Amino acid sequence: MPQVLVASNRGPVAYTRAEDGLTARRGGGGLVSGLSAIGADADALWVCAALGDADRAAARADGGRLPLADTGGQRVRMLDIDPEVFADAYNGIANSVLWFVHHMLYQTPFEPVFDAAFEKAYAAYRTYNTAFADALAEDADEGAAVLVQDYHLTLVPGLLRARRPDLRVGHFSHTPWAPPDYYRLLPDDTAADVLRGVLGADRAAFLTHRWAEAFAACCADVLGAEVHRDGDALSVVHEGRTTRIGVHGLGADADFLRERAHRPDVEERMAALREQIGGGDRRTVVRVDRTELSKNIVRGLHAFRRLLEDHPEWRENVVHLAFAYPSRQDLAVYREYTAEVTRTAEQINDQYGTATWTPVVLHVEDDFARSLAAYRLADVALVNPIRDGMNLVAKEVPVVSERGCALVLSREAGAHEELAADALSVNPYDIGATARALAEALELPAAERAERAGRLASAATALPPQRWFLDQLQALRG
Ligand code: G6P
Repeated sequence: MPQVLVASNRGPVAYTRAEDGLTARRGGGGLVSGLSAIGADADALWVCAALGDADRAAARADGGRLPLADTGGQRVRMLDIDPEVFADAYNGIANSVLWFVHHMLYQTPFEPVFDAAFEKAYAAYRTYNTAFADALAEDADEGAAVLVQDYHLTLVPGLLRARRPDLRVGHFSHTPWAPPDYYRLLPDDTAADVLRGVLGADRAAFLTHRWAEAFAACCADVLGAEVHRDGDALSVVHEGRTTRIGVHGLGADADFLRERAHRPDVEERMAALREQIGGGDRRTVVRVDRTELSKNIVRGLHAFRRLLEDHPEWRENVVHLAFAYPSRQDLAVYREYTAEVTRTAEQINDQYGTATWTPVVLHVEDDFARSLAAYRLADVALVNPIRDGMNLVAKEVPVVSERGCALVLSREAGAHEELAADALSVNPYDIGATARALAEALELPAAERAERAGRLASAATALPPQRWFLDQLQALRG
């Protein structure tokens, strides 16, 4: 039976329907490469949700226990959760409520609504979390370590502890955590329920000290829990149990990125992008994001427009490569945002574009090879989220760029805690300041840019995914 279990909403593999049945595609991301550190033969199991019809069909085979061949050596158990329960839990609570609270995204016209639909969705969220807790309780070996991921699964640690007190349970938040004054806008019983759920873990971990402190402050404020500090070590005591709080700042996977960025498909995309950039020595400002409100793409475009307005010398001489890949399109507020991104890019091109120069090259179909090609061509990376747990793009571009890329970085991104010394920091709401930072980044002398880029790349790779994962596992067992 598995000694190490990972649980997350999105698993390491996704299915699509092909003519000859179901085809599996292996996903990327820090968690997938992190888990690879324990090796294919270690007794590990990944429990995740089936996310679409093809996943559901795959999940129905053999109780969701997927064949090794489809999953690149990882054993995976995909949970076939009732589609309505899933939609309420994922769209209704995780992505609309918890994501919005932790990223402090509520603003007119998208305001919190805690009505009967919310109560139904929260009941579904509990059912969905219970399905995970049941599966983990069923599969885990005596004393196994269970690493529960993210805001989709905040109730799992508490539910799992009630079923299997022998397990070592960790919870990891990949998002920010809201400070108490904002967190308290949740209904009181929900606010307490989520915190109690996470405190069911032996260890709750975060990407930065800032999010860890906010979580502890919420526990004190909402639950009246005691927060203990011993040097750097933080813990929360509630109802006689202690939950240790940890910080593991996931870094970029330099070996993987450098190798992947030199494959033929990336070279091809570079040639295509060079064509779109045009003009021999035009500079580039690069951004790559999910089309996500917290990523602040529209304000980034306004800042680029302002750069062209205030610095006519950059007209014809810089191109903004803006890649915004569709995300969570079941939610109207995301669909509207996606449309606004496209509209804004078009307006800038109408206003400033010439026969030989397209100021904003916007791509909206997800293509990892093209993202890497843009990283290689980046003179400036623009990473300006309103709030972000970490933001790996900020860490990946300096590793891959061949032009000694400068980084314009929001002070509200988790990555800022590690990269501030060599980035140009911005307040993400301040369009004027972001435009000035873009100008400054473009004008940095080449030698200084290269030096900064070198230091950014070392800071960005300080904790690669494999070590990030093993550190957590060790801390959980220790
Ligand atoms: C964030 C979350 C992840 C999530 C990802 C993509 O990074 O922390 O848990 O998987 O966004 O979002 P999605 O809703 O497409 O899974």
